[in-house]
Amino acid sequence: MSKNVLTNRKLFLLNDDKKLEDGSKVVLTGWVRTNRNSGSIGFIEFNDGTHFKNVQLVYESSNKNYEEMAHIKYGSAIEVNGTTKLTPDGKQPFEITLEEFKLLGDCTDDYPLQKKRHSFEFLRDIAHLRPRTNTFNAVFRVRNALAYAIHKYFQEHGFMYIHTPLITGNDAEGAGQTFKVITDLKHPNDFFKANASLTVSGQLHVEPFALTFRDVYTFGPTFRAENSNTVRHASEFWMIEPEMAFADLNDNMDVIESFIKYIIKYVLENCPDEMKFFDSFIEKGLLEKINHVLNSEFKRLPYTEGIKILEEAVKNGHKFENNDIFWGMDLQSEHERYITEQVIKGPVFLTDYPKDIKAFYMKLNSDGKTVAACDLLVPTVGELVGGSQREENYDILKAKMEELGNDKGLEWYLELRKFGGCVHSGFGLGFDRLLMYITGISNIRDVQPYPRTPGSLRF
Ligand code: 4AD
Ligand code: MG
Repeated sequence: MSKNVLTNRKLFLLNDDKKLEDGSKVVLTGWVRTNRNSGSIGFIEFNDGTHFKNVQLVYESSNKNYEEMAHIKYGSAIEVNGTTKLTPDGKQPFEITLEEFKLLGDCTDDYPLQKKRHSFEFLRDIAHLRPRTNTFNAVFRVRNALAYAIHKYFQEHGFMYIHTPLITGNDAEGAGQTFKVITDLKHPNDFFKANASLTVSGQLHVEPFALTFRDVYTFGPTFRAENSNTVRHASEFWMIEPEMAFADLNDNMDVIESFIKYIIKYVLENCPDEMKFFDSFIEKGLLEKINHVLNSEFKRLPYTEGIKILEEAVKNGHKFENNDIFWGMDLQSEHERYITEQVIKGPVFLTDYPKDIKAFYMKLNSDGKTVAACDLLVPTVGELVGGSQREENYDILKAKMEELGNDKGLEWYLELRKFGGCVHSGFGLGFDRLLMYITGISNIRDVQPYPRTPGSLRF
């Protein structure tokens, strides 16, 4: 191929650098999204996978291959030969005048993605094809950018990335929601000679690294056998779990806020077309909401105050599905959403929860009743982050673990409090829920490439 002919990567790089010229020869490979023509002129929306926006290919009836071009089907893979035409006033910065094409992969007539709107439910059944739609294309691009931004934030701020195991012998959260790992149903213990399960959280395994490297994080898949069929629960989801030595609950909240603002900013700067798309077609006002988050301080509210707010709401006639509000209750999504959406109207940390509704490792406050926990609640999603200062007192933690009966097998975890223990804190941010929040997509099944939920294991 002649050196002067632009292939996909070269073309887009030149365009990004604003060095693309009119009349450059191109040879491109990619897929046809739509193809329409009026008898004398035709337009193909062409996507080579590298950008959210399509490139328009234009062919005219003077072209000897016009008839064939007019019959290229939606979804086909093609190679095209043509020249660039800059269109600074158009929707796209340039189009391609098509000269020749080669059909690389035809697409049969039963292709489900014809040019019309499809419901998200329908698209869930074709998870192998839905990334080709505008919505899912944008979702997975933002998902990618978000994952990168997360590593970027932590790497720039001196956190070390630790790979915690996915197969484990403990139930970190103590909620009994683990998937068992077995090789033979008759002998559940045969392989590891122990009860093995998929991890619900990397926290316990990452804490020892914080007590060595100071600031660390793990970022990977976690698994929960929660039988809750909601739009914000998945059986497999990704979680970011930082852990910081010599950091208390307030330091923890400072980092959560700075971290979330950083990654939102990164996505706004790096996925502007996708974010505009979500703002227009998925959640009206999304950009305003996101910019508001960037520019406001996250409120901090003790759980006890939250309960007062809910009691007040009920007194004033608000009806929750669970209207039985009392100090000590575990908040449901409707309660969390009421506080963040109706009262605070933005992100809010709820802090210092009753010890009996939180995990064993959380730091007991001096009142003896609450723990140094912080849940970050955000509008539409509810709980986005769960974090806490960890109990560093050996005796208190030991007594708690014995009371709950999870001390066997976690002796190593307790030991950290004996060998150079210190105040330390961390949190877990649900990656998929963050993506829901940023894109406005309301069902977790539509932000994961292949969602796993109760009763559903397709693909
Ligand atoms: O609040 P969780 O259970 O906290 C922990 O696992 C701690 N070990 C974290 C830590 O301190 N290192 O879970 C953390 C977050 C939740 O706030 C939520 O965003 C998300 O994980 N999450 C889920 N996301 C999707 N589907 C589910 N079933 C989820 N369960 C929790
Ligand atoms: Mg939680």
